[in-house]
Amino acid sequence: MSSFKPDIFAGKVAFVTGGGSGICYGMTQALLAHGANATILGRREANIRDAAAKLTKDTGKECLGIAGDVRKPESLKAAIEATVKRFGRIDFVICGAAGNFLSPISGLSENAFKTVLEIDTMGTYNTIKATIGEVKKAKGAYIAISATLHYRGSVLQAHVSAAKAGIDALMNVVAVEYGPAGVRANVIAPGPIEGTEGVARLIPKDVIAETTKAIPSQRYGTIEDIGNAGVFLFSPAASYVNGAVLVVDGAQWHNSTTS
Ligand code: HXC
Repeated sequence: MSSFKPDIFAGKVAFVTGGGSGICYGMTQALLAHGANATILGRREANIRDAAAKLTKDTGKECLGIAGDVRKPESLKAAIEATVKRFGRIDFVICGAAGNFLSPISGLSENAFKTVLEIDTMGTYNTIKATIGEVKKAKGAYIAISATLHYRGSVLQAHVSAAKAGIDALMNVVAVEYGPAGVRANVIAPGPIEGTEGVARLIPKDVIAETTKAIPSQRYGTIEDIGNAGVFLFSPAASYVNGAVLVVDGAQWHNSTTS
């Protein structure tokens, strides 16, 4: 059962990049379950349309699924125009599109490093640029999805560490530049979240038990944990939370002894 008032987002509209699966799908589901309508954007057309149809069916609210790539500002522009045409406004934006794989620096081509920066950091920047006019009008809010990898040195993650550090820095500036216009900009930094492509790609199955022990909360996070964090940050309960990073990781990154 939700901890939040069911209709807390009635009349609100969300725009979510990377909303076709995983954390951002779950965050969209949580917003719809609390009364919002939404657009989700993803690269794979069939996948994004199926995800939107399922979200609409499961929540009784409306979700548009639009194929697009955050590396291409024109595809974002088209998706935003379609969203405003359908719903009339954009209150909440989740910058969640991301790419990752494990590789040592020696195995990363220039293009490999650049590709992840283009999807994660430039993609977040492109999404903010494309939506800020609508978000200002609505006095709305942003959440960017980051990570905790770059708080220390995470092996095999140079590309994503650099990309996520850039996102954190960018969101600080968004908070400061657009705070006076009534816009809030925050970051969620998830730890390992079960049932996501990220965990499937980054954590081999045979080390899950061992890595779970290293998490002080003694479990992987759930997609619902991140959905709840998103509902909080978009809700009026967080109206003075601006320029913050909410780490949702069961204290994993603090645990220097076992991780
Ligand atoms: C080294 C690799 C590689 C690997 C790809 N590349 N995989 N290099 N090791 N395992 C290189 C390619 O050879 C190429 O370089 C360059 O990266 C671009 O690859 P493309 O396949 O052409 O790019 P693209 O089709 O745009 O795909 C982007 C991608 C891909 C990031 C490489 O993995 C992807 O689409 N991922 C999206 C889904 C995803 O990753 N989800 C998980 C997010 S998890 P060359 O030089 O050959 O041209 C996450 C959580 C982070 O973000 C925090 C966790 C705690």
